[in-house]
Amino acid sequence: MTVATRQTWNPVQYSKNARFVSDLGMPVVELLAPCAGECILDLGCGDGPLTKKLADFGCQVVGVDASQEMITAALSLGLDAYVMDGHSLQYKCKFDAVFTNAALHWMKQPEKVIAGVWKALKPGGRFVGEFGGYGNVATIVAALESMLVKRGIEAKAVNPWYFPGIEEYKNHLEARGFTVNTIMLVPRPTPLPGDLVGWLETFAKSFTAALPASEHMQFLEEAAGLCRTKLSNADGSWTADYVRLRFYATKANRCRPGM
Ligand code: BEZ
Repeated sequence: MTVATRQTWNPVQYSKNARFVSDLGMPVVELLAPCAGECILDLGCGDGPLTKKLADFGCQVVGVDASQEMITAALSLGLDAYVMDGHSLQYKCKFDAVFTNAALHWMKQPEKVIAGVWKALKPGGRFVGEFGGYGNVATIVAALESMLVKRGIEAKAVNPWYFPGIEEYKNHLEARGFTVNTIMLVPRPTPLPGDLVGWLETFAKSFTAALPASEHMQFLEEAAGLCRTKLSNADGSWTADYVRLRFYATKANRCRPGM
C-alpha cells in the first residue's frame, strides 16, 4: 500500500529541532569516502549541509529532495540542487556514487527508489547510505499509533515511515542487481535539542494531519506523555530511540543481461 505522506518541511523549524540529523551524518560520509572530482548524487539532500560537505571534498555534487522549501534552502548555500521525488529519479549512468542520509525512511516504495539509483549510477558505482531501520523510534511510533487508534483513525494508513530490517533491505538491493558489501543496524539513542513535542511538530505532521488543527497540540503533548517514562531523562531532557540501517552496495562493472 502506498501512503500519501502529509509531511511538509519548514527549514527554520528543521534547523531548531533537527539539525542533529545532518550533524550525526559523518559516519555515512566516512563510509562513502568521497574523492575529489567524483560525481555524486545526494538523494534526499534536505537543506544541504552534507551536500555542502561533499562539495567541500572537491566532489561535483547534485542534491535532490522532494521538498521545494528544503531545495530553496540548499540553493541558498550555492549548491546544485533540484526538487525531485526519490521514487522517480531522472538520471542515467551519471554518478560515481549515490549518497543518502536520513531520507530513505520517507520513501515507502523501495523498489522504485533502488531502480532509480541503479539507473543513475555508472557501472562500478556505489550506493551508500543510512536511514531509519527496523525498530527506529519504536516508542514514539507506538504512542502515535495508539493515540490515533483511540480516535478511530487507521494509524497504519497515515504512518509515513519505512523502517526495514537488514534482510528485507538487502533483498531489495540484490533483487535489482546490487552487491551488498555492508549492511548493519546501528542502535543510536539520540539526545534531542529540545523536548519531544518539538521533535513531533517537525517530523510527525502526517499523524497530526489526520486531526483537526485545533487538536494538534493536545495530541502531541499526550503522545509525548506516553513516551515520558522511556525517553525522558532525570534532568528533563529527551533521548529518542533511534536505530539506523547503514549500508554500502555496489553496481558491478559488468551487468548481467537485463540488469
Ligand atoms: C530522521 O530523519 O532521522 C527521522 C525521521 C522520522 C522518524 C525517525 C527519524
